[in-house]
Amino acid sequence: MPKHVVRPGDTIKVIAKKYKVSLENISNANRHLESLDQLQSGDVIFIPDASDGTFCEIVPQTLRPQLLTMIGISPRQIQEHYKLYLGYISKVNEIRFKMRTADRINANSTFSPIRALKLSETYALGGYKLHELYFANIGGRGGGASGSIFEAIVRDFGSYEFWEKDFRATAIASRGWVILGYDYNDKHLHNYGLDAHDSGTVIGFEPLLVVDVYEHAYFIDYGTNRFSYLDAIFGNIDWYVVNSRWENKKN
Ligand SMILES: [Fe+2]
Repeated sequence: MPKHVVRPGDTIKVIAKKYKVSLENISNANRHLESLDQLQSGDVIFIPDASDGTFCEIVPQTLRPQLLTMIGISPRQIQEHYKLYLGYISKVNEIRFKMRTADRINANSTFSPIRALKLSETYALGGYKLHELYFANIGGRGGGASGSIFEAIVRDFGSYEFWEKDFRATAIASRGWVILGYDYNDKHLHNYGLDAHDSGTVIGFEPLLVVDVYEHAYFIDYGTNRFSYLDAIFGNIDWYVVNSRWENKKN
């Protein structure tokens, strides 16, 4: 880490300004000194990374009109749910903006600002990405799988009926999400359950059909009756979208 040797007239504010780092970050990097308010000539000041990093703002998808005309899932249910999606994007942007200048010198796995930001980033990011996939694969005609994804489901699950039975059971057994996807390691389809946006996520896995099973996804329409919500979901799956994801996956 770069160092600065204190000269007469130097203060911590002057040094922070000279190296274009925040007062908070330079203070955190120099906790070995008794007082940063009374620097002595010859004191050695560590200069933390002055980079502000980069930041790319996420822009939300608009709410598609067909999601407000579905049978079995009301417009109010969707509109309230869409607000949560917007909230996750807002938080990802906020977290990443703050991460640019976060203290990296004093990272700590029990507690540190960078730990809080990193944990919150993956939670909010999962919330944003999973909701976007969910809102994109409903609003269709339902009615069972068709096309090449149907053939793949039969190949990997033995029958379409067994796949649906397993998918529904995974949805009931999970606290957050159920996902039909393609696992690049064994090159098979699987139904995976997630208890939260950042819990149970599998790497090397292409999500094809994503269904939100948090209670907030159906409580307005069905109370705690997740079975009826799943019936409604199966009546509104957009199999065209699922087929497109399947055919566009990496081989
Ligand atoms: Fe949700």
